[in-house]
Amino acid sequence: MGVEIRVEGLTKSFGRQVIWQDVSLSIPAGEISVLLGPSGTGKSVFLKSLVGLLKPDRGHIWIGDRDLPRLPESKLYETRKLFGVLFQDGALFGSMNLFDNIAFPLREHTRKRESEIKNIVLEKMEMVGLLGAEHKLPGEISGGMKKRAGLARALVLDPEILLVDEPDSGLDPVRTAFLNQVFIDLNAQIGATFLIVTHDINTARTLPDNIGLLYQRHLAMFGPREMLLTSEEPVVRQFLNASKVGPIGMSEEKDESELEAEAKLGHDPGKLPPIPPQQMPSNGMLRTGMHAPGAWCAAHGVTPPPGSFIDDLGRNWVEEWPRYVASMSPVGAHGGPGAPGAPGAPGGPGGRFPGNPPPGRHGSGAGY
Ligand SMILES: Nc1ncnc2c1ncn2[C@@H]1O[C@H](COP(=O)(O)OP(=O)(O)OP(=O)(O)O)[C@@H](O)[C@H]1O
Ligand SMILES: [Mg+2]
Repeated sequence: MGVEIRVEGLTKSFGRQVIWQDVSLSIPAGEISVLLGPSGTGKSVFLKSLVGLLKPDRGHIWIGDRDLPRLPESKLYETRKLFGVLFQDGALFGSMNLFDNIAFPLREHTRKRESEIKNIVLEKMEMVGLLGAEHKLPGEISGGMKKRAGLARALVLDPEILLVDEPDSGLDPVRTAFLNQVFIDLNAQIGATFLIVTHDINTARTLPDNIGLLYQRHLAMFGPREMLLTSEEPVVRQFLNASKVGPIGMSEEKDESELEAEAKLGHDPGKLPPIPPQQMPSNGMLRTGMHAPGAWCAAHGVTPPPGSFIDDLGRNWVEEWPRYVASMSPVGAHGGPGAPGAPGAPGGPGGRFPGNPPPGRHGSGAGY
């Protein structure tokens, strides 16, 4: 499950305003990728272009042998069914309860019977921890629940690709941590290709397999999490460390005088902080897209900053990883049903795993 999206030389402008140009990247199948960038750099425009809602000026978006911008309308309609999209505001219909909101794409795009629709809707609501809230109206629930309802709706057609625009905007850090856990668990369960736009640096550091950064009308970098978290490139370094020192200023770019003043003060961007362990599924599965901690650094001769891959219990995940993988059932090792109660499996008797929120997870009907 999950398909690769190959973007080549993509350029988009509105009138004379170039939003970004020559964007090329391959979003790996089944992995979780995060797209970062200062406000207004065109992240939402990028997602809308991927799904065919906006037409790029130039370039290609390959999904298998289909080039999206060049597909006739009928084929584009078919290809769009591969996508589940959660827009920035959740885009729920205010007058419909959550059940009907989530059932909407099934009633619009399929000929399934109501009994089948009910099964699917309840299954997806359970996946995102919303069971019990079927009859609530969007106006009666919290921001976090709205995001999860939007997510359940994005899942009902079993997408191969899930695009999510700022799921964490307006959420507090605890709710963000819970929502991130939902993404990790979902990815383990459905194995789709995830692309998540976020502003949250902690999310970017702990959630994805890959990180991309849009900056100054270009894709500054896209690659494995460990590559970006150890990058010396000033923009990447500043953004991923949420530092005021570097080329990004309040109005996106600092002007010459600000940069000069910083250089005079001799600001040192400082040592890189440790690479945190990646957040793990809580459902006793391994994600197919997940890479062994430290593998990218080892393969590229990069020494990770001291203290990297160590969780809050002091375990070093470069050493723990082989044991952890061995503790999984053979089916679970590649994203199958897994072994929820296997010794050492997250959520099982083995206790907490790196980056997981405290036990209790995203329980049904919880009010966040
Ligand atoms: N349909 C449109 N027509 C004209 N300009 C647009 C349109 N959609 C977006 N833009 C412009 O494109 C630029 C990028 O917008 P976009 O919403 O993609 O930014 P963003 O990176 O998602 O920002 P944020 O982080 O604040 O959500 C903005 O200058 C915006 O005004
Ligand atoms: Mg946006």
